[in-house]
Formats: sequence, structure tokens, C-alpha cells
Amino acid sequence: MTRIIYPQTNPNETEQLIISRGQGAYVYDDKGKQYIEGLAGLWSTSLGYGNEELIEVANQQMREIAYTPMFAGKSHNIGIELAETLSDMLPMDDARIFFGNSGSDANDTHLKLLRYYFNVIGKPEKKKVISRHRAYHGVTMAASCLTGLPAFHQHFNLPIDELNILHTDCPHYYRNGLPGESEAQFCQRLVDNLEQLILTEGPDTIAAFIAEPINGAGGVVLPPQGYFDKVQALLNKYQIFFICDEVITGFGRTGHDFASRAFDIDADMMTLAKALSSSYLPISAAAVSANIHETIREPANKVGAFAHGYTYSGHPVCAAVALKTLQIYERDQLFIHAGQLGCYFQQRLNELIKFECVGEIRGMGLIAGLEIVSDKANKTACAELAANIAARCLENGLILRQVYGNTLALCPPLIINKSQADEIVDKLTLSIEQTLIHR
Ligand SMILES: Cc1ncc(COP(=O)(O)O)c(C=O)c1O
Repeated sequence: MTRIIYPQTNPNETEQLIISRGQGAYVYDDKGKQYIEGLAGLWSTSLGYGNEELIEVANQQMREIAYTPMFAGKSHNIGIELAETLSDMLPMDDARIFFGNSGSDANDTHLKLLRYYFNVIGKPEKKKVISRHRAYHGVTMAASCLTGLPAFHQHFNLPIDELNILHTDCPHYYRNGLPGESEAQFCQRLVDNLEQLILTEGPDTIAAFIAEPINGAGGVVLPPQGYFDKVQALLNKYQIFFICDEVITGFGRTGHDFASRAFDIDADMMTLAKALSSSYLPISAAAVSANIHETIREPANKVGAFAHGYTYSGHPVCAAVALKTLQIYERDQLFIHAGQLGCYFQQRLNELIKFECVGEIRGMGLIAGLEIVSDKANKTACAELAANIAARCLENGLILRQVYGNTLALCPPLIINKSQADEIVDKLTLSIEQTLIHR
């Protein structure tokens, strides 16, 4: 046992796998065993491993200027270029970008910006933020409050009420649909519940609604047909901002550049991280509408500087790597590739529904989740079986992730080819078969 306090790890089950190197879609452990990375690290290494262009640009930037801040009037061209390129890509009009280091801190920034904005426009009571059960928005003190997974709340005494965070339903029809309820009825019930919550709390007290277009860590949940159209209509009706957390779904993951586009979400604020730099270096972006940015500029002459920002906001080396990542996505048409290969990947994964222990398969593009059950008819969730399959996958050289107890999540690098997609599905199939035989 080393002296590391491991993140999101059972402290009694640490250091079970030491990864030493990576190349393309594969990583290798300290004994040289090869694994196909079915989760792209943490849903993030979209360009895979050992990308020479990213390595080179990081080296070059370090030689030029390894670090210079963005505080108090200072800036650098690589950061400016990244913000311009990113803003042009986003499905938001004239988005303005605040750089951070992680998805969590970007969501924290959004919460602070909301308060600042509504204070400036004279509506200080508009502070509440509606998140959803099973959401994952990170782990800073504020982001943990947005997260809707019980394990992330237990023992932490989070200031959920103090920060005015509310949670509404998770849109998972398979799990949360009532007996006899159609998907359309389920969707309407959730939207009615959301409207009721807004009315009970008072629309003038609600600043924003935050959602992942597809829940990742909460179990790869895709919303029912029409869900976001109806949610968007409600938010427009009650003048509530939409914070779209695309930390996992952004940058081609779903076969669309951003999942907001796929679901017709008109975001006022977007959260981006992970694939922004293909995880080669830590960087996040809190993107906000021009209206929000212009409004927070207003009081500057009275209150002074906008007093929020990290030492590493817009770190030049991270910015250089992120810019190159975005250029590679564009040049190599990787979002289109993810869409095309994603159709094949989903089709192949759907074969696994033949297994008694696979209750539901859901996904889009190159992200998918398999819900593992012990009794298909009754949809009995079985986390133990999911853990056993995940362990077999590892033995067979496939890394995936068990999330929300009984879901096996897949999210391979966008650069995988057809035979690697097959390799993932074949290894998963074999692992399920072996697990079932040994039960
Ligand atoms: C949707 C979403 N938001 C926010 C985060 C938090 O990002 P980070 O771990 O970089 O703080 C994650 C991380 O998995 C995420 O999936």
C-alpha cells in the first residue's frame, strides 16, 4: 500500500492494476499485458494514446513559454486562439469562454457566474439550480451538490440546501417507468413534475436547470424521445437558463459534434472538459452566452475586477494541446467517423440482448451502457454480476467501467476502427459467457 489517497476508490482495494504505457486504442500494464481501452481512460482520451502531434505541440509550447497567467490584463495568443476556435465550434451563439482545470470546477464556475449575473441584474433571489437524480457533475463542494448520486453525498454533509440545489427525476424509462406507462407518458410525467417543482419553488427563484444530455457516470442514460424539447420549452416559458454539461458527450462522442445539437438543446451555459484536450493535459471550459458575459462586465467599473479564476485558467501548454486536439478532430473528420462507426458499434452491442443477464442496452455513437440483471422479466438489478463480468473483461484484455451499480459502460477512443469495435464486443461477449458458465 502506498501513501496515495485514491480518488473514487475503495481505500481497501487500491492498486489492482498498474498501467504503464499506451499506444493507439491500447494500454499496457506493468507486466506488459495489453488491454483495449473501452472507456478511453475516464470517457476522455478520444485521440487514444501516444499521439505524436499532441506530444510535439506540448513540447514546443513548453519551450516557448511554459506558463504565464491570464490574470489582471495578461493573456497569451494560444489561449486566445483556443477560445476563438472553441467558441466557433459550439452550438451557442458567440459563446464566451472561461477556462478551468476540470469539469467539476467548470460547473462550480457556472454556479458562481449565475449568482453574479442575477445579482447584477437586480434579481438576487434567482439562485436555485435544478439538477437531476443520477446526474454526475463533479466533486468540488458545489459540483457534488449538483451530482445526484447518493454515494457522492454520504458522509460529506454537503451544503445542498444552502446552495439552493434541487433535484428532479432521472429520465430513465427502463428503470423509472411505471407499470403500463408508455415512454411518451413517462416523458410527460417527468416534465409535469419538473413544471410542478418550478411552480412550487417559484420561477423567479430558479436560475438554471443543469443536465448531461446523456448521463454518463449515472449509468449511460438516454432520455426518452422528446424529453429535452419539452424541458427546453418549460425553461423558456419560465426564463430559466439551461446549463448543458457536455463533459462526456462533447466533441463527437455521440456521433454529433455536441449532444446539444443532437437533442436540440439551446444552452445558455455549457460545461466542457475531458475530450477538449483528449485528456493529454487537464483543461476545462465553462462556456456562457454573450449576454451573461456582457452583464458581468457591466459592474466592473463599480466593483472592480471579476474576482474568480485559477492559477491555471487557460494554462498555455494545456491550451496548445487542446487547440491541436480540436484541429485534429476537424482535419480527420473524427466526429463523422464516430457517427458512422458508432452505428456499427451499437448494432453489434445490441446482439448482447440475447443474454438473460442483459436487461437493456442503450447508447449513441461511441458511448454505450449495458444494464446487468439477474432476472430479466423483473429487471432485477445485479451489481455483483456486473462486477464479475467487468473482472472477466479485464482478464480478457478489455477495460470498461461498472457504473451506477449494475451498468457496464463503454466509451472507447474516437479513433478506434471497425476491427477494434469488434474486438471490444467480442471480448465483452466472451466475458459474459464465461461469467454465466461459472455462476
Ligand atoms: C458530465 C460530467 N460533468 C462533470 C464531470 C467532472 O469532471 P472532472 O472529473 O474533470 O472534475 C464529469 C466527470 O466524469 C462528468 O462526467
